[in-house]
Amino acid sequence: MDFFNVTGRTPLNGQIEVFAAKNAILPMIAASILCKNDSVVLHNIPDILDVRVMIKVVERLGAEIIFDNDNNKLSINASNLKSVEAPYELVSKMRASFMVLGPLLAKYGEAKVSQPGGCAIGARPIDQHIRGFAKLGAVVTDEHGYIVARSRGKLIGGDIYFDRPSHTGTENIIMSAVLAKGETKIINAAQDPEIVDFANMLNLMGAKVSGTGTSTVTIEGVESLHGVDYTPIGDRLEAGTYLFGVMSTGGTIKVNGIKPEFLKVPILKISEMGGDFKMGKDWIRLKAPKSTKSVNIVTDPYPGFPTDLQPMVMASLCTAEGVGVIWERVFENRFIHVMEFNRLGANIRISGDRATIIGNQKLEGTTIMCSDIRAGAGLLIAAMVSNGNSKLKRVYHIDRGYQRLDERFNSLGAKIQRLSE
Ligand code: EPU
Repeated sequence: MDFFNVTGRTPLNGQIEVFAAKNAILPMIAASILCKNDSVVLHNIPDILDVRVMIKVVERLGAEIIFDNDNNKLSINASNLKSVEAPYELVSKMRASFMVLGPLLAKYGEAKVSQPGGCAIGARPIDQHIRGFAKLGAVVTDEHGYIVARSRGKLIGGDIYFDRPSHTGTENIIMSAVLAKGETKIINAAQDPEIVDFANMLNLMGAKVSGTGTSTVTIEGVESLHGVDYTPIGDRLEAGTYLFGVMSTGGTIKVNGIKPEFLKVPILKISEMGGDFKMGKDWIRLKAPKSTKSVNIVTDPYPGFPTDLQPMVMASLCTAEGVGVIWERVFENRFIHVMEFNRLGANIRISGDRATIIGNQKLEGTTIMCSDIRAGAGLLIAAMVSNGNSKLKRVYHIDRGYQRLDERFNSLGAKIQRLSE
């Protein structure tokens, strides 16, 4: 198993280009199932474990895949599947693979997909997805840990209300509705930029999806979809990871391939912390201040502060001037990394869904462990500002969402060695 040996206290400087957004790519791979007879070709695709799992899921269903990882190009022909069943051993590895249910149901009138099971950051139920499929006329049952959905003939469009906005729920319902009879509306939909990009791709494939990026999404059913050649948007979470990295270590970096508007709230918060920005259409330059000020953070669905950047801002707050409070409002259990931060010498106290971070701490390297993708990225940043050496274990979590984050940070001046034990 790989681990990182991190030598701390080196500033970050230089330029970096982000890959395409993981959370746009995953639904796009699922959407290839909707094609009548040709391929979806995607560019700038990082070679990360979550992409590999999604590829395996559609491959298991019968898709033909070519992943040219030297050129980060992925071609999927999923137009003629031989199975509509996604097994536990794959779905349990990554919850997002539950998103094959929508397109399978839309195209084949049936799907059997394992329930994703538990997750480190929260219970993460899938009730909103299931209510949505049922609203479109599917009969949905739970059979021995599998969700089985069937429709007699085509699904029929209808109005769906989400009790709370769900990112993958919105995408799953969009995919189930694109081939339905008539119009579907999702009210209280998630508004993330990846959903807008995903809908842009679907529309190029012949779908009629409008209103993404707002709380009401409208899908007008069409007869069929065709293939597409597409480059997804840059990854705002990868970009945000570099921004909080430099806010923690000091230095100046330029992140290319990312629209600043996707990071509006994190950029406002970093400005409050003393960061100095210059921005263009698709780049962000950030100069870290000599001394960073603490801020309070409330995580919320987009356009709020992303829960996926919560561990990274926490890393910056550990050494900032003052006290910062993080109120985690998206996931009920997303503070597991706090114990690991405290092992480095951070002073963080948790009370329910709030973490109080007493700043000005001198972090000292030690052995710490990743529990999920973003916790891992936050801990890596904390190790990068710690004195001496840290051993960061279970970095496969980081590899799920970032292509070689160690090498990418090293290209900016970090000292991270990947070793095996
Ligand atoms: N929820 C329900 N019922 C549902 C669906 C969601 O109660 O049927 C709850 C969840 O438990 C959670 C909240 O609603 O408390 C929001 O969850 P959401 O469904 O939006 O999360 P997701 O779609 O499963 C995506 C990202 C996550 C990101 C969240 C929140 C993908 C593939 N995953 O998950 O990304 O944290 O939205 O923004 O898009 C990551 O990239 O590391 C990651 C975890």
